[in-house]
Amino acid sequence: MKNPKNILISGASSGIGRALAASYSAPSVNLFLCGRDEKKLRETKFLCEALKANVSYEILDVCDESQVKNWIEKIEKNYPLDLVIANAGISAGTAGGPESFAQVKKIFSTNLDGVLNVIYPAIEKMRERKKGQIAIISSLAGMRGLPSSPAYSGSKAAVRVYGEALRGNLAPLGIEVNVVCPGYIKTPMTDVNEFPMPFLMSAEKCAAIIKRDLEKNKSRIAFPFPLYFVVWLAALLSTKITDPIFAKLPGKKGL
Ligand SMILES: NC(=O)c1ccc[n+]([C@@H]2O[C@H](COP(=O)([O-])OP(=O)(O)OC[C@H]3O[C@@H](n4cnc5c(N)ncnc54)[C@H](OP(=O)(O)O)[C@@H]3O)[C@@H](O)[C@H]2O)c1
Repeated sequence: MKNPKNILISGASSGIGRALAASYSAPSVNLFLCGRDEKKLRETKFLCEALKANVSYEILDVCDESQVKNWIEKIEKNYPLDLVIANAGISAGTAGGPESFAQVKKIFSTNLDGVLNVIYPAIEKMRERKKGQIAIISSLAGMRGLPSSPAYSGSKAAVRVYGEALRGNLAPLGIEVNVVCPGYIKTPMTDVNEFPMPFLMSAEKCAAIIKRDLEKNKSRIAFPFPLYFVVWLAALLSTKITDPIFAKLPGKKGL
């Protein structure tokens, strides 16, 4: 969609969410942001207001379905949402041992339920208007299961495939759905990684690519190309070839 005016971004207190909020900031744009860290959300608000956007934020946990629903319904009364970006997410891996069940549940709850909680109340309203755009932030880690982060790659694969299906399902109703699969982006999420991250990109460049391709309603926004090509190929190849390679990949620490 070109020039969305009322935009909601979950997880805008840092990283990609903050960079997206800044990249959409302009006079007459209304931004609705959420996260759990008020101090960091306030910093995002000041940054976007300096760029002339109207900004409001809500302190909430995307895992709390009713809190998210109430927030979105309140916004929708005065500001029909043009674009909703389900960006909030967490990551953790298996460095130091297998994932605990608690970690698996927390990652799926945030990265999968947290996405559904954000997009559904908006989709209901967009259906009535026959207009709107939903962007789901997945990851290149969701293109092929990674032994170094089973829950993270599983949660990102789930929202990727779900978003691809939803796109075809909602297109006749005038709603655009896009799945975003970034590679390594420099944010607080990756700042803790103690391994080399090929083609590491700034959050600002990442946001510019997402914004450009959302305008074109591109179905899968996957980048940077060299890393996308590698994971795309790996997903096609026999697991007999790829399993030994993926088993050697370094992971991040557990939660
Ligand atoms: N960085 C990368 O290399 C990379 C690559 C591919 C995909 N991604 C995806 O991009 C998205 C943004 O990640 P990032 O790299 O920008 O990391 P980040 O800087 O850690 O940002 C994550 C954002 O999600 C919010 N969040 C996390 N759990 C939440 C919850 N339960 N309720 C509400 N907000 C929550 C955080 O806000 P609070 O802490 O204030 O709650 C923060 O604003 C994630 O979905 C991530 O999986 C990142």
